[in-house]
Amino acid sequence: MCGIVAYLGEKNAYEVVIKGLQRLEYRGYDSSGVAIHKDKSVNIYKQKGKVQDLIDFASDKDTNGNLAIGHTRWATHGLPNNVNAHPHQSSNGKISLVHNGIIENYSVLKKELEQRGYKFLSETDTEVLVHLIGDIHKNGKQSLFDSVRLALNEVIGAYAIVVISDENPDELIAARKSSPLVVGLGQGEYFCASDATPIIEYTKNVVYLEDGEIAHISLKNGLKLKTIGNQNKTPYIQELEMHLEALEKGGYEHFMLKEIYEQPKSILDSMRGRFSISQGKVVLGGILDYEEKLINAKRLIFVACGTSWHAGLVGEYLFEEIARIPVEVEYASEFRYRNPIINEDDVVIAISQSGETADTLAAIKIAKERKATLIGICNVVGSSISRETHCGSYTHAGPEIGVASTKAFTAQVTILTLMAMMIGRRKGTITNERFNRLLVELNAIPEKLKTVLKENDLIEKIAKIYHKSTNALYLGRGINFPLALEGALKLKEISYIHAEGYPAAEMKHGPIALIDEEMPVFVIATKDSSYEKIVSNIQEVKARKGKVIAIVSHGDKEVKKIANHYIEIPKCDELLVPLLATVPLQLLSYHIALMRECNVDQPRNLAKSVTVE
Ligand code: AGP
Ligand code: GLU
Repeated sequence: MCGIVAYLGEKNAYEVVIKGLQRLEYRGYDSSGVAIHKDKSVNIYKQKGKVQDLIDFASDKDTNGNLAIGHTRWATHGLPNNVNAHPHQSSNGKISLVHNGIIENYSVLKKELEQRGYKFLSETDTEVLVHLIGDIHKNGKQSLFDSVRLALNEVIGAYAIVVISDENPDELIAARKSSPLVVGLGQGEYFCASDATPIIEYTKNVVYLEDGEIAHISLKNGLKLKTIGNQNKTPYIQELEMHLEALEKGGYEHFMLKEIYEQPKSILDSMRGRFSISQGKVVLGGILDYEEKLINAKRLIFVACGTSWHAGLVGEYLFEEIARIPVEVEYASEFRYRNPIINEDDVVIAISQSGETADTLAAIKIAKERKATLIGICNVVGSSISRETHCGSYTHAGPEIGVASTKAFTAQVTILTLMAMMIGRRKGTITNERFNRLLVELNAIPEKLKTVLKENDLIEKIAKIYHKSTNALYLGRGINFPLALEGALKLKEISYIHAEGYPAAEMKHGPIALIDEEMPVFVIATKDSSYEKIVSNIQEVKARKGKVIAIVSHGDKEVKKIANHYIEIPKCDELLVPLLATVPLQLLSYHIALMRECNVDQPRNLAKSVTVE
């Protein structure tokens, strides 16, 4: 999710906020805006595009004032455009708000507000929150602070918000839940930002808000902290030690590592508001209008490239197992030139992090010409692929800066899992018991992933042993076979070691000739229906002096005895193993590449989005 900056003090607030938004540009965004308090009113300027577009737009406007809030948007609800850009205002224009995150229950709240006569200008979930605050505040019985606090008690979801009103030039309200927000304490001035990069040049004294906290900031009374449950909290003031560049990566050495560690949150955000355990249901709102097409599909065709193609391969196992629909997974670059046979009852699903990959875009245009139904799974709202498809579901992984795709892959697999479950449930091809069990297990994945991430030190040690290898093999069976391909791609694209992924059973048909004591073989050997067979494959490798590094389920006994090294991951339903087993492979590649002094975030010859053929 993107960026928030706010300022209250003696300086020109617009200049501080704009410079802060530029500091946050590395996070990726699609539009930006600013609200500046001046003489009992608020001037708002918003623009689609870069912060420079906003600066150009405001260059001849009144930007004076000592209180301002700013926002760089990474759209989740509503296209990137000037109307949907933040800040958003209450219906009387008195309250202005910026928001990072997702209001899960926004449609319920919006219906209630519309019934009370509220009109909405934007398509965003955010605007619902500012109208809710305005609705509570309008009767004059609640202060702005309490109006915000009470409104947040009705909100389900993730937020970092800053709120100002035209009535008070000396007041900032800030709150967070699941999305980060930092308060900077200067000499007679205050800052709020999504991370410390916009703040550090003015002050090193910061307070990182905790989930459920709300801050009341004024020049007169300083910083007062409460919970949204109205309990007083004592602010914990820290002194920043990190330098700017480190801050941009959230304290991580590289964007790739930061994004690997963001996966518990990006998977949670991709699931957020899209299933209910208590009601036993999955609802992907973005494909509801075409649900029948999916239910009646004679065939699904996934078109994608690279890592997204690997996600499609995982999707093949998910849809065929859960929804019993035949699936073909196509390299978009091959599909577009092959004069493919496409029927009207085919559903073509395009998977793309950037939503701009030329081959994938070309593939869906051909499918569209031949009357197939097109569904998009993209990480960028309003991207070309998302606009070319009939419907779709956005992954909510947030901007992925590292060229090697990590959190986008697990977010894509999350969406594919939910989609297969939603369709399987409707078709009755999955039992209620298994559906509900899978839902509970899916819900537990973000916490289990945090356990996997704790293996980082062990993984780094293993990487040290093998970082000088010239070749590597990755093996997996069933739904773990695509992980072998993905693990191999990660290694080769950032460490430049030649690596290949294979179905484990395929070894005996040739690749086993490659095995010798120099060859590291990474095997996904989790406890599942093909466990005994993968154990045999490992023994075949060991018999030829190959070195085996295995990913095993907690409590594994057999593989641990024969592998040279093993990394344990929590047990889970075998259909969900890709969400957990991918992460050790990502970390292995990251550490090996680092030890080989490769540029982890910008590997040679590669681009983040391949918008050319
Ligand atoms: C993955 O690590 C690579 N960066 C690359 O294979 C990427 O997945 C591929 O170019 C597809 O990009 P997309 O998901 O943006 O369409
Ligand atoms: N969900 C909000 C929107 O789509 C905020 C997105 C963000 O975090 O930038 O506008």
